Amino acid sequence: AYVVVDNCIKCKYQDCVEVCPVDCFYEGENMLVIHPDECIDCGVCEPECPAEAIKPDSDDGLEQWAELNRKYAELWPNISRKGDAPADADEWNGVPDKLANHFS
Ligand code: SF4
Ligand code: F3S
Repeated sequence: AYVVVDNCIKCKYQDCVEVCPVDCFYEGENMLVIHPDECIDCGVCEPECPAEAIKPDSDDGLEQWAELNRKYAELWPNISRKGDAPADADEWNGVPDKLANHFS
């Protein structure tokens, strides 16, 4: 499966939602996650994210993110339509360690 990682937080551009053929994104206040059992590994969302916040879970060091995506995909509502990104999304693009300070 693919996973959403740190840089989505407070960027939440949602271009990924637009292209996913199986609607496996779930929406928190500040980020989206992917349901790992629903993702068909098509890979089309990865290049669409302006924040480069989508990675294959086979990449090194993403265990924490794989767990977080699985956990919150069960708790958050599904999102199948792209909404507006936060007005200050571009200011958050690239800010480090957002998980520790801005996750929700
Ligand atoms: Fe959806 Fe494909 Fe991205 Fe998985 S890899 S989340 S199926 S667009
Ligand atoms: Fe997040 Fe990128 Fe989608 S910022 S909402 S993973 S397009």
